[in-house]
Amino acid sequence: MRMTDLIAKKRDGGVLDTEEIRFMIRGYTDGSIPDYQMSAMCMAILLRGMDDREVLDLTMSMMHSGEVLDLSPIEGVKADKHSTGGVGDKTSLVLCPMVSACGLKVAKMSGRGLGHTGGTIDKLESIPGFSTSLTEEQFFDNVNRHGIAIIGQTADLAPADKKLYALRDVTGTVPSIPLIVSSVMSKKLASGADVIVLDVKCGDGAFMKSPEDAEELARSLTRIGRLAGRKCAAIITDMDQPLGFAVGNALEVEEAIRVLSGQEEGDLLELCLVLGSCMLTEAGFAASDGEAREMLLDAVRSGRALDKLAEMVEAQGGDPEALRHPGRLPQAAYRYEVPSRVTGTVSRIHAEAVGLVSMKLGGGRATKTDTIDPAVGVVLQRKLGDPVQAGDSLATVYASDPDRGAEAVALLHDCFEFSDGPVARPPFIRKIVRD
Ligand code: URA
Repeated sequence: MRMTDLIAKKRDGGVLDTEEIRFMIRGYTDGSIPDYQMSAMCMAILLRGMDDREVLDLTMSMMHSGEVLDLSPIEGVKADKHSTGGVGDKTSLVLCPMVSACGLKVAKMSGRGLGHTGGTIDKLESIPGFSTSLTEEQFFDNVNRHGIAIIGQTADLAPADKKLYALRDVTGTVPSIPLIVSSVMSKKLASGADVIVLDVKCGDGAFMKSPEDAEELARSLTRIGRLAGRKCAAIITDMDQPLGFAVGNALEVEEAIRVLSGQEEGDLLELCLVLGSCMLTEAGFAASDGEAREMLLDAVRSGRALDKLAEMVEAQGGDPEALRHPGRLPQAAYRYEVPSRVTGTVSRIHAEAVGLVSMKLGGGRATKTDTIDPAVGVVLQRKLGDPVQAGDSLATVYASDPDRGAEAVALLHDCFEFSDGPVARPPFIRKIVRD
C-alpha cells in the first residue's frame, strides 16, 4: 500500500477502506508516513469529507494508537464530558461533582490549556496541594471509594491525535468535521467511559461559526459514539460571551464553589444542569430530563455537590478547607475596576479577547513550557443584556503586577460593546442532540 495512492483516492472523492485507514494512522504514528503526505491527506479529507464508516475507522485507529483505559475495575456507570472549548469554561469543576453526588462514577482525564486560560487540570492545581497525577491504581481506587477523580491526560492517550492535531493546527485543516470528530472521540473512547456528553460551542471564537455546522458536528459526534457502543448526547451552546463571570484559574475555582453552593445562578449553572440531565438520563439514573434536573438541583441545595468536590480534593492531596474558605486559594496582589465610559446596555463581550487579557496577566500559556500564575484573571461584573451607567464597573482585574494590571484594564474596555436600547439574546442552549 502507498500513501500517495490513498491521497489521490481521497482527492478524487473516493472512499477509503478500513485497511487503508489503519495503514495511514499506523504509518503516521510510527513516523514512516511523513508530515507532508499527512497534511495533503488532511486537506483532501477537509475538502472531500468522509462517510460514517470512514470516520468510525479513523476514530478507532486513532484510539488504538496508544493506551486504551479499561475502567472495568470501577463499579457502576462511568460518565465523561467534553467541551469543544470556551473562555471561562469551568464546567467540569461544577458538573462532575454534581453528577457524582447523584451516583454516577466520574473517572475523568483532562488536559491543560494552551492559550487563553488554563485547562481543567490547571484550574484544579490552583487548589493548594491538589495532585492531578495519580497512578492508575490510585485513580481507580479513588473513583471506587469517592465516586470521582480527575487527573491529567497521560502522554500515551491517542498519540496519533497529538501528532495529527499539531499538524492540522499549522496546515489550515482544523475545521473539518471528520477530523474534529475522530480527534475528540478517539480520546474520549480511549478514556473508557460508558456515557459521554459533549458540549459543542457555536459562534464567534468557536470552531463552528454557524448553528448549522455546529449541529452537523454534534450529530456526527453522537453517531460515532453510539456506533462505538457508548451512550452519547451533545448540546449546542452559544459562545457569544465568556461562560459565567470568572476567567482565570483560582478565580474559576471560586466561581465553581459559588455555583455548587447555590450562591450563583446563570448560564454556567444552566449548562451544568442540562449536561448533567443528559448524563443521568443516558445512564438510566433518571426517566426524564425533568427528574434528572430535580436530582441535580437537590444535590446542590443539600450541599452534597460541594461536599463531593471537597471529598475529591482531599482524596487527591488538596486542602478541602480552601473550598469553605476561598481566601486560602492563591490571591492576586492587585485589583483594579474597569469603569464603563458609557451608559447603555451591554450588547457584546468578545470572549476570545477577554481570554487573551487573562493570558497576558499570566493566567494562560503562550507556549507549552510557560508557567501559569493561578491567582490572576478577570471577573466580569456585567454580562450581555445588562444595563450599565457610566462609571459602573464592567469587570475586576486581578493582577500580580501593576503594569500588567493597567494594560489589562485598557484592553478590557475594548472587549465590551454597548447599545442604547434593550438587547435580545438568542437562547444560550441552542439544541440538545440525542440521535
Ligand atoms: N478538540 C479536539 O480535541 N480536537 C479537535 O480537532 C478540535 C477540538
